[in-house]
Amino acid sequence: MKISVVGTGYVGLVTGTCFAETGINVTCVDIDEKKINKLKESIIPIFEPGLETMVKKNLEKQRLFFTTSLKDSLEGAEVAFIAVGTPPGEDGSADLRYVLEVARQIGKNMTQYLVVVTKSTVPIGTSVKVKAAIRDELEKRGAQIEFDVASNPEFLKEGNAIDDFLKPDRIVVGVESERAQRIMSRLYKPFLLNNHPILFMDIPSAELTKYAANAMLATKISFMNDMANLCELVGADINMVRKGIGTDNRIGNKFIYAGIGYGGSCFPKDVKAIIKTAEKLDHPLRLLMAVEAINEDQKKVMVGKVRTHFKNDLKGKTFAVWGLAFKPNTDDMREAPSRVIIKQLLDAGAKVKAYDPVAIEESKHVFGNDITYGNDPYDVLIDADALLLITEWPEFRMPNFKVLDKLMKQKVIFDGRNIYDPNEIAENGFVYYGIGRKSGKLLG
Ligand SMILES: NC(=O)c1ccc[n+]([C@@H]2O[C@H](COP(=O)([O-])OP(=O)(O)OC[C@H]3O[C@@H](n4cnc5c(N)ncnc54)[C@H](O)[C@@H]3O)[C@@H](O)[C@H]2O)c1
Repeated sequence: MKISVVGTGYVGLVTGTCFAETGINVTCVDIDEKKINKLKESIIPIFEPGLETMVKKNLEKQRLFFTTSLKDSLEGAEVAFIAVGTPPGEDGSADLRYVLEVARQIGKNMTQYLVVVTKSTVPIGTSVKVKAAIRDELEKRGAQIEFDVASNPEFLKEGNAIDDFLKPDRIVVGVESERAQRIMSRLYKPFLLNNHPILFMDIPSAELTKYAANAMLATKISFMNDMANLCELVGADINMVRKGIGTDNRIGNKFIYAGIGYGGSCFPKDVKAIIKTAEKLDHPLRLLMAVEAINEDQKKVMVGKVRTHFKNDLKGKTFAVWGLAFKPNTDDMREAPSRVIIKQLLDAGAKVKAYDPVAIEESKHVFGNDITYGNDPYDVLIDADALLLITEWPEFRMPNFKVLDKLMKQKVIFDGRNIYDPNEIAENGFVYYGIGRKSGKLLG
């Protein structure tokens, strides 16, 4: 089987590589010539564990190809995936310009029956627009070529993308013809052998499923953050509350950790987009509006604690920051809480020294020369007035407090992910601030 994947970003590259891994002949297309030339040499533009090795292997086996020519990629292909970006437009709704441009290009270049599958996260109704764009181009050419559209939203998590793709909880496919369903079943057959369910449904339901999933996950985070802030007011510990509710199997213990807000390329944009979709239909999504507002506030909670501790005088103070990426195992800093926190510190006249295992290059694009970087976590602690733990990379989990004590000017830790034991920190003579917790001498 031969397929084309248009858009070789995070999702397109992982999708193409994982399909190639199952023996399918995959051509990944992108308009970014530099990116494609690098990929041809197995140089990966993103940090994603295991991806580079897999790209290299499938290039060598000649199952994975990279090109800037969409036309070439469609030759003999039965399926074309659209996996380009859908960034928020000015009003927050998803900008479909890239998706529809690809649809038009497909219409201009296809030569035989094709299932055109939208993998990008797109609002309900997009497949109708994709279909119209393709049909329009075919009519202009006077070409009578059959095609089907389908929706196959992607649920992979950055940092765990390969595993998520190869061993998905479920595969959601929206179709409107049996022919497309048969082809999509065949394409995903290697995944189904391991009993991962494929859920066929109508296209609008598939499109909405993706937004509903991200909105639900964002809701869990904002709910826990709201509870964490209440914990501080009533003298409770959110970690205890989390354990207390997580053991109820109707609630479950996943994704209920309090912190400094969600970020990344998906949750913020997808929550905004679904709010916008509903607003246009006169159905305000009041719960999700609150989820978003709580999240915006939560990104500012840490600097609020910093201000309180230092009596609002941050000018000239030096802050060590551990973690810049929006979560561990990625260098992605899109909408990362670190951006808001560091900006607030800089605006208040403070100095920031940061360390992240992989996101420093990315951070240089964001902050230019406004902050400095260390070669390892301890480097940035020299003469620091406080340590701010922002991303919970494994290497930050067991700091050597004796070394911290020697290097830092003041012994203060702000733990944005609640990864430290307040008692242990207090025993080492540090002042501890978590999210929704008291500073030390807690039970458990
Ligand atoms: N990143 C994630 O974790 C994730 C997870 C699930 C779903 N999604 C969704 O998948 C979609 C893609 O996200 P991403 O993170 O991979 O985006 P990305 O920005 O990493 O990649 C998009 C790629 O598309 C290319 N492109 C743009 N126009 C093109 C065209 N006309 N022809 C060929 N290539 C073109 C760009 O050059 C870029 O390389 C989005 O809708 C996103 O919401 C992302």
